[in-house]
Amino acid sequence: DFDACDISEKLGFLLEEPLTDLPDYYREWLDLANNLTHLIEARKLRDLVHKMPVLSPHLLSDHRELRLAHLALGFISMGYVWQEGQHAPAQILPKALALPYWLVSCRLGLPPIVTYADSVLTNWKLRDPTGNMEIGNMDVIFSLPGGESCRGFFMVSLLVELDASSGVMGALEVMHAMKISDLIAIQKGLVKVTQSLKKMKETFKLMHNHVDSTAFHGTLRIFISGWRNNPKLPRGLLYEGVSNEPISLSGASAAQSSAIQCFDALLCIQHEDEAGAFLTSMRDYMPPAHRQQIEALSVCPSLREFILSNSSSDLCQAYNSCVSALVDLRNYHLNTVTKYIIVAGNRARATGCPLRGVGTELNATGTSGSNFMVFLKSVRNATQKALIFEG
Ligand code: HEM
Ligand code: ALA
Repeated sequence: DFDACDISEKLGFLLEEPLTDLPDYYREWLDLANNLTHLIEARKLRDLVHKMPVLSPHLLSDHRELRLAHLALGFISMGYVWQEGQHAPAQILPKALALPYWLVSCRLGLPPIVTYADSVLTNWKLRDPTGNMEIGNMDVIFSLPGGESCRGFFMVSLLVELDASSGVMGALEVMHAMKISDLIAIQKGLVKVTQSLKKMKETFKLMHNHVDSTAFHGTLRIFISGWRNNPKLPRGLLYEGVSNEPISLSGASAAQSSAIQCFDALLCIQHEDEAGAFLTSMRDYMPPAHRQQIEALSVCPSLREFILSNSSSDLCQAYNSCVSALVDLRNYHLNTVTKYIIVAGNRARATGCPLRGVGTELNATGTSGSNFMVFLKSVRNATQKALIFEG
Protein backbone atom coordinates (compact mmCIF):
# COMPACT_ATOMS: atom_id res chain seq x y z
CA ASP A 1 0.00 0.00 0.00
CA PHE A 2 2.00 2.98 -1.27
CA ASP A 3 -0.48 5.56 0.09
CA ALA A 4 0.04 4.50 3.66
CA CYS A 5 3.74 5.19 3.19
CA ASP A 6 3.26 8.74 2.01
CA ILE A 7 4.75 7.87 -1.33
CA SER A 8 3.04 8.91 -4.51
CA GLU A 9 2.93 6.45 -7.37
CA LYS A 10 3.43 9.29 -9.83
CA LEU A 11 5.71 11.62 -7.90
CA GLY A 12 7.64 9.26 -5.65
CA PHE A 13 8.96 11.08 -2.60
CA LEU A 14 7.94 14.56 -3.81
CA LEU A 15 5.14 16.15 -1.83
CA GLU A 16 2.06 16.20 -4.06
CA GLU A 17 0.53 19.64 -4.64
CA PRO A 18 2.37 21.47 -1.86
CA LEU A 19 0.43 24.30 -0.22
CA THR A 20 1.73 27.82 -0.77
CA ASP A 21 -0.20 29.53 2.02
CA LEU A 22 -1.10 29.02 5.67
CA PRO A 23 -4.05 30.17 7.81
CA ASP A 24 -4.05 33.94 8.32
CA TYR A 25 -2.89 33.59 11.93
CA TYR A 26 0.58 32.73 10.51
CA ARG A 27 0.80 35.91 8.40
CA GLU A 28 4.06 37.02 10.10
CA TRP A 29 5.82 33.83 9.06
CA LEU A 30 4.63 33.98 5.47
CA ASP A 31 5.42 37.70 5.13
CA LEU A 32 9.05 36.99 6.03
CA ALA A 33 9.34 33.78 4.01
CA ASN A 34 7.86 35.40 0.91
CA ASN A 35 10.36 38.30 1.01
CA LEU A 36 13.34 36.39 2.29
CA THR A 37 16.01 37.18 -0.31
CA HIS A 38 15.24 40.89 -0.17
CA LEU A 39 15.21 40.96 3.64
CA ILE A 40 18.51 39.07 3.86
CA GLU A 41 20.26 41.19 1.26
CA ALA A 42 19.01 44.39 2.91
CA ARG A 43 20.13 42.88 6.26
CA LYS A 44 16.71 43.49 7.79
CA LEU A 45 15.66 39.94 8.56
CA ARG A 46 17.20 39.62 12.02
CA ASP A 47 15.53 42.82 13.26
CA LEU A 48 12.16 41.67 11.96
CA VAL A 49 12.55 38.27 13.61
CA HIS A 50 13.27 40.05 16.90
CA LYS A 51 9.87 41.73 16.56
CA MET A 52 8.01 38.56 15.69
CA PRO A 53 5.35 37.23 18.11
CA VAL A 54 5.66 33.67 19.45
CA LEU A 55 2.90 31.94 17.50
CA SER A 56 1.47 28.61 18.49
CA PRO A 57 1.48 25.88 15.85
CA HIS A 58 -1.87 24.48 17.08
CA LEU A 59 -3.80 25.92 14.11
CA LEU A 60 -1.75 23.83 11.68
CA SER A 61 -3.90 20.83 11.03
CA ASP A 62 -2.80 18.58 8.20
CA HIS A 63 0.46 17.19 6.90
CA ARG A 64 0.82 19.66 4.05
CA GLU A 65 0.30 22.67 6.33
CA LEU A 66 2.96 21.33 8.66
CA ARG A 67 5.34 20.77 5.76
CA LEU A 68 4.87 24.34 4.48
CA ALA A 69 5.36 25.69 8.01
CA HIS A 70 8.54 23.62 8.39
CA LEU A 71 9.86 24.95 5.09
CA ALA A 72 8.98 28.58 5.92
CA LEU A 73 10.44 28.47 9.46
CA GLY A 74 13.49 26.63 8.14
CA PHE A 75 14.26 29.18 5.44
CA ILE A 76 13.70 32.07 7.87
CA SER A 77 16.06 30.38 10.34
CA MET A 78 18.77 29.90 7.69
CA GLY A 79 18.42 33.56 6.72
CA TYR A 80 18.56 34.57 10.37
CA VAL A 81 21.69 32.54 11.13
CA TRP A 82 23.65 33.43 7.97
CA GLN A 83 22.39 36.97 7.20
CA GLU A 84 25.77 38.58 8.04
CA GLY A 85 27.78 36.03 6.07
CA GLN A 86 29.44 32.76 6.96
CA HIS A 87 31.93 34.46 9.28
CA ALA A 88 29.32 35.97 11.59
CA PRO A 89 26.59 33.40 12.18
CA ALA A 90 23.98 33.96 14.88
CA GLN A 91 24.65 31.67 17.83
CA ILE A 92 21.10 31.80 19.16
CA LEU A 93 17.82 31.23 17.35
CA PRO A 94 15.23 33.47 19.05
CA LYS A 95 12.27 31.85 20.78
CA ALA A 96 9.71 33.21 18.28
CA LEU A 97 11.40 31.05 15.65
CA ALA A 98 12.89 28.27 17.75
CA LEU A 99 9.85 27.21 19.76
CA PRO A 100 7.21 26.85 17.03
CA TYR A 101 9.86 25.38 14.72
CA TRP A 102 10.69 22.78 17.35
CA LEU A 103 7.02 21.88 17.86
CA VAL A 104 6.28 21.64 14.14
CA SER A 105 9.40 19.50 13.69
CA CYS A 106 8.30 17.09 16.44
CA ARG A 107 4.91 16.62 14.80
CA LEU A 108 6.56 15.83 11.45
CA GLY A 109 9.38 13.68 12.83
CA LEU A 110 11.91 16.01 11.16
CA PRO A 111 14.78 17.95 12.78
CA PRO A 112 14.43 21.74 13.26
CA ILE A 113 16.68 22.68 10.34
CA VAL A 114 16.14 22.93 6.60
CA THR A 115 16.23 19.49 5.02
CA TYR A 116 16.14 18.19 1.47
CA ALA A 117 12.51 17.27 2.21
CA ASP A 118 11.81 20.99 2.73
CA SER A 119 13.98 22.79 0.20
CA VAL A 120 13.29 20.34 -2.64
CA LEU A 121 10.37 17.98 -1.97
CA THR A 122 8.03 20.65 -0.52
CA ASN A 123 9.35 23.79 -2.20
CA TRP A 124 7.77 23.64 -5.65
CA LYS A 125 4.85 24.83 -7.73
CA LEU A 126 3.85 24.93 -11.38
CA ARG A 127 3.88 28.33 -13.07
CA ASP A 128 1.03 27.26 -15.32
CA PRO A 129 -0.96 24.73 -13.27
CA THR A 130 -2.26 23.08 -16.42
CA GLY A 131 1.26 22.66 -17.82
CA ASN A 132 3.89 19.97 -17.37
CA MET A 133 6.50 19.38 -14.72
CA GLU A 134 9.44 20.72 -16.72
CA ILE A 135 12.06 23.20 -15.67
CA GLY A 136 10.56 26.16 -17.56
CA ASN A 137 7.17 25.66 -15.92
CA MET A 138 8.39 25.21 -12.36
CA ASP A 139 9.22 27.55 -9.57
CA VAL A 140 10.19 27.47 -5.91
CA ILE A 141 7.68 28.60 -3.27
CA PHE A 142 10.33 30.37 -1.16
CA SER A 143 13.82 31.48 -2.21
CA LEU A 144 17.15 31.91 -0.52
CA PRO A 145 19.83 34.27 -1.91
CA GLY A 146 21.49 33.15 -5.15
CA GLY A 147 18.94 34.40 -7.68
CA GLU A 148 18.16 32.14 -10.62
CA SER A 149 20.77 29.67 -9.37
CA CYS A 150 18.68 29.10 -6.25
CA ARG A 151 15.60 28.22 -8.31
CA GLY A 152 17.78 26.16 -10.66
CA PHE A 153 19.49 24.19 -7.89
CA PHE A 154 16.26 23.24 -6.13
CA MET A 155 14.29 22.59 -9.33
CA VAL A 156 16.93 20.44 -11.04
CA SER A 157 17.26 18.43 -7.82
CA LEU A 158 13.48 18.05 -7.83
CA LEU A 159 13.40 16.82 -11.43
CA VAL A 160 16.18 14.31 -10.70
CA GLU A 161 14.17 13.07 -7.73
CA LEU A 162 11.09 12.87 -9.96
CA ASP A 163 12.99 10.61 -12.35
CA ALA A 164 13.86 8.42 -9.37
CA SER A 165 10.18 7.73 -8.63
CA SER A 166 9.78 4.99 -11.24
CA GLY A 167 12.96 3.41 -9.89
CA VAL A 168 11.60 3.39 -6.36
CA MET A 169 8.46 1.65 -7.67
CA GLY A 170 10.75 -0.79 -9.51
CA ALA A 171 12.63 -1.49 -6.27
CA LEU A 172 9.36 -2.27 -4.46
CA GLU A 173 8.38 -4.57 -7.33
CA VAL A 174 11.70 -6.43 -7.06
CA MET A 175 11.17 -6.78 -3.32
CA HIS A 176 7.73 -8.26 -3.89
CA ALA A 177 8.93 -10.55 -6.67
CA MET A 178 11.72 -11.87 -4.44
CA LYS A 179 9.15 -13.02 -1.90
CA ILE A 180 7.52 -15.26 -4.49
CA SER A 181 10.78 -16.09 -6.33
CA ASP A 182 9.43 -14.68 -9.60
CA LEU A 183 12.67 -14.35 -11.62
CA ILE A 184 11.04 -12.61 -14.58
CA ALA A 185 9.45 -9.98 -12.34
CA ILE A 186 12.73 -9.44 -10.48
CA GLN A 187 14.47 -8.83 -13.77
CA LYS A 188 11.73 -6.47 -14.97
CA GLY A 189 11.91 -4.51 -11.73
CA LEU A 190 15.68 -4.20 -12.05
CA VAL A 191 15.39 -2.92 -15.63
CA LYS A 192 12.98 -0.29 -14.35
CA VAL A 193 15.50 0.81 -11.71
CA THR A 194 18.29 0.97 -14.32
CA GLN A 195 16.19 3.08 -16.68
CA SER A 196 15.31 5.40 -13.86
CA LEU A 197 18.98 5.84 -12.88
CA LYS A 198 19.88 6.65 -16.49
CA LYS A 199 17.13 9.27 -16.67
CA MET A 200 18.32 10.77 -13.40
CA LYS A 201 21.80 11.25 -14.82
CA GLU A 202 20.45 12.92 -17.99
CA THR A 203 18.30 15.29 -15.95
CA PHE A 204 21.23 16.02 -13.61
CA LYS A 205 22.99 17.62 -16.59
CA LEU A 206 20.45 20.47 -16.45
CA MET A 207 22.39 21.73 -13.42
CA HIS A 208 25.01 23.25 -15.73
CA ASN A 209 22.46 25.42 -17.57
CA HIS A 210 20.57 26.54 -14.53
CA VAL A 211 23.11 26.89 -11.73
CA ASP A 212 26.08 29.23 -11.87
CA SER A 213 28.96 27.84 -9.84
CA THR A 214 29.97 31.22 -8.38
CA ALA A 215 26.45 32.02 -7.21
CA PHE A 216 26.05 28.51 -5.85
CA HIS A 217 29.35 28.38 -4.02
CA GLY A 218 29.63 31.98 -2.86
CA THR A 219 26.00 32.58 -1.92
CA LEU A 220 23.36 29.86 -1.93
CA ARG A 221 25.54 27.22 -0.35
CA ILE A 222 26.17 29.30 2.76
CA PHE A 223 22.42 29.56 3.40
CA ILE A 224 21.83 25.82 3.31
CA SER A 225 24.85 25.07 5.51
CA GLY A 226 24.11 23.50 8.84
CA TRP A 227 25.69 23.52 12.27
CA ARG A 228 27.11 20.05 12.56
CA ASN A 229 30.81 19.73 11.86
CA ASN A 230 30.80 23.35 10.79
CA PRO A 231 33.84 25.28 12.07
CA LYS A 232 31.78 28.48 11.90
CA LEU A 233 29.34 27.12 14.49
CA PRO A 234 31.45 24.47 16.22
CA ARG A 235 29.07 24.04 19.16
CA GLY A 236 25.90 24.15 17.10
CA LEU A 237 22.98 26.55 17.53
CA LEU A 238 21.10 27.42 20.70
CA TYR A 239 17.34 27.08 20.25
CA GLU A 240 16.02 29.64 22.74
CA GLY A 241 13.08 28.43 24.80
CA VAL A 242 13.73 24.84 23.75
CA SER A 243 17.06 23.77 25.22
CA ASN A 244 19.85 25.28 27.32
CA GLU A 245 22.55 23.63 25.26
CA PRO A 246 23.36 24.31 21.60
CA ILE A 247 22.25 21.62 19.17
CA SER A 248 24.32 20.36 16.20
CA LEU A 249 22.39 19.61 13.02
CA SER A 250 23.39 18.94 9.40
CA GLY A 251 22.35 21.38 6.69
CA ALA A 252 20.35 20.50 3.59
CA SER A 253 21.87 18.01 1.16
CA ALA A 254 20.63 15.51 -1.40
CA ALA A 255 22.42 13.00 0.84
CA GLN A 256 19.02 13.20 2.56
CA SER A 257 17.26 11.91 -0.55
CA SER A 258 15.52 8.62 0.25
CA ALA A 259 15.54 7.39 -3.33
CA ILE A 260 19.28 6.69 -3.63
CA GLN A 261 19.31 4.99 -0.24
CA CYS A 262 16.43 2.79 -1.43
CA PHE A 263 18.54 1.74 -4.41
CA ASP A 264 21.54 1.00 -2.17
CA ALA A 265 19.34 -1.09 0.10
CA LEU A 266 17.83 -2.99 -2.82
CA LEU A 267 21.20 -3.72 -4.42
CA CYS A 268 22.77 -4.62 -1.04
CA ILE A 269 25.57 -2.10 -1.40
CA GLN A 270 27.86 -2.31 1.63
CA HIS A 271 29.21 1.08 2.55
CA GLU A 272 32.43 1.36 4.47
CA ASP A 273 32.01 2.13 8.21
CA GLU A 274 32.34 5.89 8.30
CA ALA A 275 30.50 6.57 5.04
CA GLY A 276 27.79 4.10 6.03
CA ALA A 277 27.35 5.78 9.42
CA PHE A 278 27.03 9.18 7.74
CA LEU A 279 24.42 7.90 5.28
CA THR A 280 22.48 6.27 8.12
CA SER A 281 22.58 9.53 10.09
CA MET A 282 21.02 11.27 7.08
CA ARG A 283 17.89 9.15 7.54
CA ASP A 284 17.06 11.23 10.61
CA TYR A 285 16.55 14.12 8.16
CA MET A 286 13.97 12.28 6.06
CA PRO A 287 10.20 12.17 6.64
CA PRO A 288 9.57 9.04 8.75
CA ALA A 289 7.48 7.35 6.05
CA HIS A 290 10.36 7.68 3.58
CA ARG A 291 12.88 6.40 6.11
CA GLN A 292 10.62 3.38 6.66
CA GLN A 293 10.70 2.61 2.96
CA ILE A 294 14.49 2.32 3.05
CA GLU A 295 14.27 0.19 6.16
CA ALA A 296 11.69 -2.11 4.55
CA LEU A 297 14.08 -2.67 1.65
CA SER A 298 17.08 -3.22 3.97
CA VAL A 299 15.45 -5.96 6.03
CA CYS A 300 14.46 -7.98 2.95
CA PRO A 301 16.39 -11.13 2.11
CA SER A 302 19.47 -10.13 0.13
CA LEU A 303 18.86 -9.72 -3.60
CA ARG A 304 22.58 -10.03 -4.22
CA GLU A 305 22.81 -13.35 -2.35
CA PHE A 306 19.75 -14.55 -4.20
CA ILE A 307 21.37 -13.76 -7.54
CA LEU A 308 24.71 -15.30 -6.50
CA SER A 309 23.00 -18.53 -5.50
CA ASN A 310 20.84 -18.57 -8.60
CA SER A 311 22.53 -19.37 -11.87
CA SER A 312 20.45 -17.07 -14.09
CA SER A 313 22.86 -15.11 -16.21
CA ASP A 314 20.08 -12.74 -17.36
CA LEU A 315 19.32 -11.85 -13.81
CA CYS A 316 22.97 -11.32 -13.03
CA GLN A 317 23.28 -8.99 -16.01
CA ALA A 318 20.19 -7.04 -15.01
CA TYR A 319 21.66 -6.62 -11.53
CA ASN A 320 25.05 -5.54 -12.88
CA SER A 321 23.49 -2.99 -15.27
CA CYS A 322 21.69 -1.50 -12.35
CA VAL A 323 24.84 -1.26 -10.23
CA SER A 324 26.76 0.22 -13.20
CA ALA A 325 24.10 2.88 -13.72
CA LEU A 326 24.38 3.82 -10.05
CA VAL A 327 28.20 3.99 -10.31
CA ASP A 328 27.77 6.20 -13.38
CA LEU A 329 25.40 8.53 -11.58
CA ARG A 330 27.77 8.76 -8.60
CA ASN A 331 30.71 9.51 -10.91
CA TYR A 332 28.72 12.23 -12.61
CA HIS A 333 27.83 13.60 -9.20
CA LEU A 334 31.51 13.61 -8.17
CA ASN A 335 32.43 15.63 -11.28
CA THR A 336 29.65 18.09 -10.54
CA VAL A 337 30.85 18.46 -6.96
CA THR A 338 34.36 19.18 -8.23
CA LYS A 339 33.06 21.95 -10.47
CA TYR A 340 30.62 23.53 -8.01
CA ILE A 341 32.66 23.27 -4.80
CA ILE A 342 36.35 22.59 -5.46
CA VAL A 343 36.95 24.65 -8.61
CA ALA A 344 34.53 27.41 -7.58
CA GLY A 345 36.20 27.56 -4.16
CA ASN A 346 39.71 27.76 -5.58
CA ARG A 347 38.60 30.51 -7.94
CA ALA A 348 36.98 32.49 -5.13
CA ARG A 349 40.19 32.33 -3.10
CA ALA A 350 42.34 33.29 -6.08
CA THR A 351 40.24 36.34 -6.94
CA GLY A 352 40.40 37.75 -3.44
CA CYS A 353 37.71 38.49 -0.95
CA PRO A 354 34.21 38.43 -2.41
CA LEU A 355 31.21 40.01 -0.76
CA ARG A 356 30.58 37.54 2.00
CA GLY A 357 34.18 36.43 2.38
CA VAL A 358 34.80 32.88 1.28
CA GLY A 359 37.05 31.00 3.68
CA THR A 360 38.65 27.64 3.13
CA GLU A 361 36.70 25.83 5.80
CA LEU A 362 33.44 25.18 3.97
CA ASN A 363 35.48 23.83 1.10
CA ALA A 364 36.38 20.55 2.77
CA THR A 365 33.03 20.11 4.47
CA GLY A 366 29.67 19.60 2.79
CA THR A 367 26.57 21.47 3.84
CA SER A 368 25.62 18.36 5.81
CA GLY A 369 29.01 18.25 7.48
CA SER A 370 30.70 15.40 5.61
CA ASN A 371 34.35 15.37 4.57
CA PHE A 372 32.80 15.12 1.17
CA MET A 373 35.50 14.08 -1.33
CA VAL A 374 36.64 11.17 0.83
CA PHE A 375 33.02 10.29 1.61
CA LEU A 376 31.73 10.45 -1.97
CA LYS A 377 34.62 8.40 -3.36
CA SER A 378 34.14 5.77 -0.68
CA VAL A 379 30.42 5.58 -1.54
CA ARG A 380 31.16 5.31 -5.26
CA ASN A 381 33.81 2.60 -4.69
CA ALA A 382 31.50 0.57 -2.49
CA THR A 383 28.89 0.70 -5.25
CA GLN A 384 31.41 -0.55 -7.79
CA LYS A 385 32.37 -3.41 -5.49
CA ALA A 386 28.85 -4.81 -5.61
CA LEU A 387 29.29 -5.83 -9.28
CA ILE A 388 29.10 -9.58 -9.70
CA PHE A 389 31.74 -11.32 -11.81
CA GLU A 390 30.26 -14.35 -13.49
CA GLY A 391 31.96 -17.66 -14.14
C1 HEM B 1 26.00 14.07 -1.22
C2 HEM B 1 27.25 18.18 -3.40
C3 HEM B 1 23.57 17.71 -6.50
C4 HEM B 1 22.65 13.37 -4.64
C5 HEM B 1 26.59 15.27 -1.50
C6 HEM B 1 27.63 15.85 -0.71
C7 HEM B 1 28.00 17.00 -1.34
C8 HEM B 1 27.18 17.14 -2.51
C9 HEM B 1 29.07 17.97 -0.89
C10 HEM B 1 28.22 15.30 0.58
C11 HEM B 1 27.23 15.38 1.72
C12 HEM B 1 27.21 16.73 2.40
O1 HEM B 1 28.00 16.97 3.33
O2 HEM B 1 26.39 17.56 2.05
C13 HEM B 1 26.38 18.39 -4.46
C14 HEM B 1 26.45 19.49 -5.38
C15 HEM B 1 25.41 19.37 -6.24
C16 HEM B 1 24.69 18.17 -5.88
C17 HEM B 1 27.52 20.56 -5.35
C18 HEM B 1 25.00 20.23 -7.41
C19 HEM B 1 25.52 21.40 -7.72
C20 HEM B 1 22.97 16.51 -6.23
C21 HEM B 1 21.81 16.00 -6.91
C22 HEM B 1 21.56 14.78 -6.40
C23 HEM B 1 22.57 14.51 -5.40
C24 HEM B 1 20.99 16.70 -8.00
C25 HEM B 1 20.43 13.87 -6.81
C26 HEM B 1 20.60 12.64 -7.16
C27 HEM B 1 23.50 13.18 -3.58
C28 HEM B 1 23.54 11.97 -2.79
C29 HEM B 1 24.51 12.16 -1.81
C30 HEM B 1 25.04 13.49 -2.02
C31 HEM B 1 22.66 10.75 -2.99
C32 HEM B 1 24.96 11.15 -0.76
C33 HEM B 1 26.09 10.33 -1.29
C34 HEM B 1 25.65 9.19 -2.20
O3 HEM B 1 24.72 8.46 -1.84
O4 HEM B 1 26.26 9.02 -3.27
N1 HEM B 1 26.32 16.07 -2.58
N2 HEM B 1 25.32 17.61 -4.80
N3 HEM B 1 23.40 15.59 -5.32
N4 HEM B 1 24.43 14.07 -3.10
FE1 HEM B 1 24.90 15.82 -3.95
N1 ALA C 1 25.44 19.30 -0.09
C1 ALA C 1 25.85 20.26 -1.07
C2 ALA C 1 27.07 21.01 -0.64
O1 ALA C 1 27.75 20.66 0.28
C3 ALA C 1 24.74 21.16 -1.43
O2 ALA C 1 27.38 21.97 -1.25
